[in-house]
Amino acid sequence: MPVRITAFNGSPRGRNSNSHRIIEPLLQGAREAGAQTEEVFLIERDVKQCRGCFACWGVTPGQCVIKDDMAGLIDIYLESDYVGLATPVYGMLMTGLFKNFTDRFLPLATPHIHRNDDGSFYHEGRVRHFPKQFFIANSGFPGGHNFELLKAYQEIAKQSGASDIVLEIYRNCGEALGETSDRHPDLIRNIAAFNEALKQAGREMVTTGAVSRDTVDRLHMPLIGDEEYMTLANREWDEMLGESQ
Ligand SMILES: Cc1cc2nc3c(=O)[nH]c(=O)nc-3n(C[C@H](O)[C@H](O)[C@H](O)COP(=O)(O)O)c2cc1C
Repeated sequence: MPVRITAFNGSPRGRNSNSHRIIEPLLQGAREAGAQTEEVFLIERDVKQCRGCFACWGVTPGQCVIKDDMAGLIDIYLESDYVGLATPVYGMLMTGLFKNFTDRFLPLATPHIHRNDDGSFYHEGRVRHFPKQFFIANSGFPGGHNFELLKAYQEIAKQSGASDIVLEIYRNCGEALGETSDRHPDLIRNIAAFNEALKQAGREMVTTGAVSRDTVDRLHMPLIGDEEYMTLANREWDEMLGESQ
């Protein structure tokens, strides 16, 4: 059986997102190593908001009462060996689309509250085996400041031990990944190196079950200088706004 990898893309831009520009090379590398891959664009699916009714705990244990695409997506999630969760940074955190999706995993938890050794609390999972995970965030700003809350969120997820997180990508200057006609040769080269590192991460995930430190470092190399990115981004807006500013 080939390794099955599913990436859930939480960008409202769907197929035209920078998240997709990051996911696709990684999945390509995984396919080269023999994996079966799929990218699920959450914006194209009907995933309603959790109602907070707890019916999935008390009335229909393990089943949500909302009839939409979520039950099928949970099946895909559980049948996968690796699951990628991708979101652009929105307001320092994740998109509503992404958060909505993760809230709908409540049926996989059981209701009773337990205490961890470190004093924190948790709900036990209803299933014994959760897929391994990788997390992809990209920001519109340069620098690393905008990932601080997401990193804290991932840290808590890791400590909970519910899932083994094999890779985290925090890609700043995300808009530099988009198509523009006047890309500087350095940027073209850096994007090519980034894409190669993504493919390598996908290959390593399949062949070794982990991603090496070297590959993680290559995934976090700068794409473009902060000042240059600011200048380019601001110039694009100036051109778009033109006289109307
Ligand atoms: C509503 C909204 C909020 C955003 N908030 C942030 C933010 O807090 N920090 C940041 O770096 N970028 C922010 N951005 C920019 C996006 O993260 C950036 O455009 C990203 O590359 C989009 O990725 P995507 O194409 O995968 O959706 C925001 C964009 C939108 C539309």
